[in-house]
Amino acid sequence: MNIQLIDKKVFNIKNNLTLKLITAEGLKKAKFKKTLKKAGFQAKQDSLCAMHGKSLLFCGLENYDAENLRTAAATTAKAIKNYDYKSISVNVDKNTISAIIEGFVLGGYEFNNYKSKAKKIKIKNLYLTCENIKELTALFEEALIITEATSFTRNLVNTAPDDMHPEVMAKVAKKLAQENGLLCSILGKSELKKERCSAMLAVGRASRYESKLIHLTYRPKNAKKTISLVGKGLTYDSGGLSLKPAISMVTMKMDKAGACAVLGIIKAVSELKLDIEVHAFIGAVENMIGGDAYKPDDVLVSRKGDTIEVRNTDAEGRLVLADVLDYAQERTKPDYLFDFATLTGACMVALGQYTTGVMGHSNRLKHDLGKAATKAGELTASLPFNKHLKKQLKSDIADICNISNKPYGGAITAGLFLDNFIKEENKSRWLHFDIAGSAYTETPWDVNVYGATGAGVRFMTQFLKSIK
Ligand code: BES
Ligand code: ZN
Ligand code: ZN
Repeated sequence: MNIQLIDKKVFNIKNNLTLKLITAEGLKKAKFKKTLKKAGFQAKQDSLCAMHGKSLLFCGLENYDAENLRTAAATTAKAIKNYDYKSISVNVDKNTISAIIEGFVLGGYEFNNYKSKAKKIKIKNLYLTCENIKELTALFEEALIITEATSFTRNLVNTAPDDMHPEVMAKVAKKLAQENGLLCSILGKSELKKERCSAMLAVGRASRYESKLIHLTYRPKNAKKTISLVGKGLTYDSGGLSLKPAISMVTMKMDKAGACAVLGIIKAVSELKLDIEVHAFIGAVENMIGGDAYKPDDVLVSRKGDTIEVRNTDAEGRLVLADVLDYAQERTKPDYLFDFATLTGACMVALGQYTTGVMGHSNRLKHDLGKAATKAGELTASLPFNKHLKKQLKSDIADICNISNKPYGGAITAGLFLDNFIKEENKSRWLHFDIAGSAYTETPWDVNVYGATGAGVRFMTQFLKSIK
């Protein structure tokens, strides 16, 4: 969809559908209130009523809160897909423009790369009509950058695992670096060996694709802060020898969503030209089975030097992240260190499938991120660490075990496993985001449609925008 900001006074386009977002209060004073009443329209949130004779579409709003504007725009974007107009227009102002763009772009998103026949959508243009273009231009451009970055992340996650394996992911990162003026370095098997990333290498050993550690840097001239982002990039998680049951293996192409979020975030930050230095580190690995696979009972030596007893090869993300986090902390001295990972099914058990689990030591930082997430329209909740859960990772034979010895608190024990690899000076600068539930959906919710949601991109960009 082509989106344009246009002055109300000069707007005059033929074959255009005008969208009216309307509250129950607004309905009382509406020009066509009698006709709308006849159709049973009460302006309930996300309810639609079309008057094609007048080229009008009404969508109900509970109030003008951003979350309601977003879902109303998303509902509209889905409904108009078969309509026979050339364009749709809607009035916006500085309080509504961002939410309306987000709803339209993300709610209208479709991933059709594997459909042999392209779908035809007649409405190709969205006109945002306004009174004062100058006042809205910056907000307009910003919302476009952020929603495009979210769609970019969704596209990568939705791509089938054999079309987005670690080697392809490295190519995607290189291309993004070229287009957006980022530095890019990629470590393959031999470099990873030199870097002593044995835990990461073990996970990828049975794959026919080489594991890759990707490092992108956005370095503006007068950077105020340095931020390091780390993403779990399991381009497929079969579980390894601790093989997943058939039913849970389906959708495991999404185990790369952390890596794809990190790519989307650095894309957005570089296009918004924020004055912060941002590093994106990705562990791109495929967890497979075979004669060469790593196994339960193996003891791995992590890059940090700690030994890890493997008791379940399906708890692989934390092994990859242990090495990538260590590498990231040696290469950069970040003011903030954030990792994104579809790490545990337990996070969904704890918070439901819509909410990102936030873990770390700084309550202040967790609070600031929660605020940014609410503003951006993403759900997050804090999962608190404690020293008792930490004991559940003790190993009788090595320094740490890759799974907990108790069946409870699995999202937190996974977070605590990562904590073991966070250097003392970074403890209060670090947060871990478990996006296992929020990154992917098979039933639409909010502005999300079937498949990847792009979880993390909006809330992290919002947070990074607010850094002083
Ligand atoms: N990638 C999965 C976590 C996951 C599960 C993400 C469902 C999205 C949806 C991760 O690698 C995994 O398999 N974790 C195990 C950990 C367990 C073996 C301790 C899990 O959650 O069952
Ligand atoms: Zn797994
Ligand atoms: Zn995994």
